[in-house]
Amino acid sequence: MLLLKNGRVVDPATRTDARLDVLIDGERIAALGPSLEVPAAELVDASGWVVAPGFIDLHCHLREPGDESSETIETGACAAARGGFTAICPMPNTRPVNDNASVTRFILDRARAASLVRVWPIGAVSAGSRGESLAEISAMKDAGIVAVSDDGHPVATAKLLRQAMEYCRSLDLPLVDHCEDSSLFAGAVMREGPRSVRLGLAGMPAATESICVARDVQIAELTGGRLHVAHLSTAESLRLVREAKRRGLGVTCEVTPHHFTLTDDDVGYDSRFKVNPPVASRQDRDALLEGLADGSVDAIATDHAPHEPARKEVEFDRAPFGMIGFETALALALEQLFHSGRIGLTRLVELFATGPARVLGIARRLAEGEPADLTLFSVDEPWTFRAHESASRSRNSPFDGREFRGAPMMTIVAGRVAFRR
Ligand code: DOR
Ligand code: ZN
Repeated sequence: MLLLKNGRVVDPATRTDARLDVLIDGERIAALGPSLEVPAAELVDASGWVVAPGFIDLHCHLREPGDESSETIETGACAAARGGFTAICPMPNTRPVNDNASVTRFILDRARAASLVRVWPIGAVSAGSRGESLAEISAMKDAGIVAVSDDGHPVATAKLLRQAMEYCRSLDLPLVDHCEDSSLFAGAVMREGPRSVRLGLAGMPAATESICVARDVQIAELTGGRLHVAHLSTAESLRLVREAKRRGLGVTCEVTPHHFTLTDDDVGYDSRFKVNPPVASRQDRDALLEGLADGSVDAIATDHAPHEPARKEVEFDRAPFGMIGFETALALALEQLFHSGRIGLTRLVELFATGPARVLGIARRLAEGEPADLTLFSVDEPWTFRAHESASRSRNSPFDGREFRGAPMMTIVAGRVAFRR
């Protein structure tokens, strides 16, 4: 038994924000209340910390199978635990692609062996994510996927998207789309604007994303399916999502820490800043901050995308897209959203835990009888992120050396301590 004493329990689902003790017995929360006394339990002094329902990352890349020199399920899960995440959803763009039940089972077996955080795989929409025919979605669902996506690429055609959404609707699975118009995207390495012109780098306009969001929202309406927009990065995309929600469609979205923190002005020739979708203009970034504050955005997701140094540390043009993100996500959210006064702790926890759970259609409550998945964090612990100390196998973070206030202090998964600072 584990007794968390005197933490500030913040749970949007039960509308709790109070100083309470939490007793964990086995895999579940056994009791919640002021001044619990359980002599047999191991004590954790949580005073000064927030005790929240476990964080869920809807979007990451673990590179196993196929690219284990960049990340394995174990190293990725370890970095996730250090970032306060109790469950993570790896995208299917591995080698081979997770487009059938045997790959799904392999991922789950490796996750069980690592035994750190819960790994909830996302299966491919199409075979090989090639955009031609549907993947074995139903068999993957039976094996344990929680959503489908061709992430790295958009679902190739409106026709295939329609088929997939109709299918997913009957299976009650959300479809996560990486929204991008491939013709506008072609050859680009950053956002198009005065900055890309000055740097002499090929840019893609904001419309690259929103054109695809508009298509997807219409297909969601046509099919009645659940659409989740991955790493949303522009004001126009957000406007489309807001409008879809207002009309009662099953449309949700996530925003990454790098998109709400950085702008294209931060981009130089340093490939650590190269990511897809690219970091946005200041106006778009500010719109994202607004959406995070006003409830339009459902979740913060990392898009943790490790790439080994040999491949990433090359000219900007030649480098792959992506940055690691598990260990800096909470600190960036505290910096940009909480310390800046834009949101309170309840909304912060909603963006990391309750919101992502809702996207997946699962409940996440910090209450008696619920699974003991908890994230304990400090809002003022000072620390500096050092990429070389990361648990990830990769080092590609533009936030290397950044000083933060606030950090995960303890990550508890099914009653077991997966990380302790
Ligand atoms: O930056 C990115 N990296 N965006 C993606 O869509 C894919 C990801 C990756 O797999 O590296
Ligand atoms: Zn993507």
